[in-house]
Amino acid sequence: MAKYNAFPPIPLKDRQWPSRSITKAPVWCSVDLRDGNQALINPMGPAKKMELFRTLLRIGFKEIEVGFPAASETDFAFLRELIEGDLIPDSVTIQVLTQARQHLIEKTFEAIRGAKNAIVHLYNSTSELQRRVVFRADKQDITKIAVDGAQIIRELAQSSPAGSVRYQYSPESFTGTEIEYAAEICDAVCEVWQPTEDNKTIINLPSTVELSTPNVYADQIELFCRLFKHRQQALISLHTHNDRGTGIAASELGLLAGADRVEGTLFGNGERTGNLDIVTMALNMTTQGVDSNLDFSHIKEVRRVAEFCTEIKVPERMPYAGDLVFTAFSGSHQDAIKKGYEAMKHSETDRFEVPYLTIDPADIGRQYDPVIRVNSQSGKGGVAFLVEHELGFRLPRRLQVAFSKVIQRITDSSGVEISAAEVAKHFVATYVEPEGPLTYNSHKLLPCDDEDSERFEFDVTYKGDSVTVTGQGSGPLDSLVHALTNRFELAYDIVDYSEHSLESGSDSKAAAYLLVKAPSGEELFGVGEHKSITKASLRGLVAAINRALIVHQND
Ligand code: KIV
Ligand code: ZN
Repeated sequence: MAKYNAFPPIPLKDRQWPSRSITKAPVWCSVDLRDGNQALINPMGPAKKMELFRTLLRIGFKEIEVGFPAASETDFAFLRELIEGDLIPDSVTIQVLTQARQHLIEKTFEAIRGAKNAIVHLYNSTSELQRRVVFRADKQDITKIAVDGAQIIRELAQSSPAGSVRYQYSPESFTGTEIEYAAEICDAVCEVWQPTEDNKTIINLPSTVELSTPNVYADQIELFCRLFKHRQQALISLHTHNDRGTGIAASELGLLAGADRVEGTLFGNGERTGNLDIVTMALNMTTQGVDSNLDFSHIKEVRRVAEFCTEIKVPERMPYAGDLVFTAFSGSHQDAIKKGYEAMKHSETDRFEVPYLTIDPADIGRQYDPVIRVNSQSGKGGVAFLVEHELGFRLPRRLQVAFSKVIQRITDSSGVEISAAEVAKHFVATYVEPEGPLTYNSHKLLPCDDEDSERFEFDVTYKGDSVTVTGQGSGPLDSLVHALTNRFELAYDIVDYSEHSLESGSDSKAAAYLLVKAPSGEELFGVGEHKSITKASLRGLVAAINRALIVHQND
């Protein structure tokens, strides 16, 4: 026998699940406060449990496994606090786990006394390996444990108000259990509980240990549903763990295979490699246009609470919630994202269509600004996106190229990425407010004899002196060029000019982009902004000349 063996395929020839799609949300059950909590280095105390419980309610969970009260005094006390403090909304059902032993079941019922809606969750291990190695028991013995437990639960439930207690059974280690036997033991439990179509029992089929590829789990679920005689009187629930890293895929395929309900935790906290991550599974549905019935519109807050309560950090690459998942480092990705956002502004539909993004970050309370961060690998698209996003400037193509080189020099020498705010700061310092000897202060129109031109007087500061200069040309820009050439021999030609308004509305500002040619032949951009387009243009011209003068002075 080899040390490791392939998991045997499930004999299911006419499987239906591969051609189905997920079209509606399952019933979700959070097991953060039980399965998740059992796996923590520092299990949550009452305050953290309460904070997480409230967060789970805000997300919209209607079923929450709050603890294992017969095994933990903290869980017992927490349940009493919830019930006696009337802290469970009527629409929410709390769930409690118990082993199939009389005194534990009795203590469990004590813990839920007074709860309006509770699920008592009975489990025992059924896998071939556990029967052989741990319990040294045959199938009959294992079935007897489950049936005896089910009977005690049924008796105790009879003294609870009608309809307040529902039942759940888990053949723990289901994935290592022969499916025929799993169906048999679940049927035996149902014989005791006598579920009906109006009062269904929950049959939870855990991948306690993930032993196979997710398609095999889906086969197990589909085969189970065919063999299980009480299928119509039961809700089939999934509870996947993540030993092979495919816990989410297994639950998704399990839903296709016929399950109605899914148990899991926020960000997949749980024993070993964790439980199913409900956040990712729910948001995966959102991206397919299926309403998950869970609200992750403030995912950062959910993450903050989960990290605080579990003392486990959400990794940077965690789908939807990780710090880096709306960040594109590659220039071509950045360019495509920018074009996607641009195209959406003019789209006639609401469809979110941005390359490389499966979800609109705004839908989960994340912002556009971290979508693109810039490092030395970034192209002009990303840099231009950030300038537009931070400052509103829509850079002409040549300026995009020029500025991305400025940023590349900075990131090359620092070796680290640069934030959006820093990109904006460098843009302003380079093109809008470059240091230099010349300042434009004001201008006024003067009478002019020539019908084809205009004459202006400009108040400028040059090398610290306030000076009035006059110039004539086709307009204010041309006039300033002539005035500066005549007075200071600053002979700069305007090579290119463009403008746009920065905001909409009557008092919106305008941006002007001036490309000037210095006497040396060098071409430099300057950018001006002002409510008056004329002043924005004059400022842009002066900024470009200052840049040329600084370069010249530095030579
Ligand atoms: O993983 C598991 O099998 C469990 C059961 C108790 C449902 O947590
Ligand atoms: Zn579990």
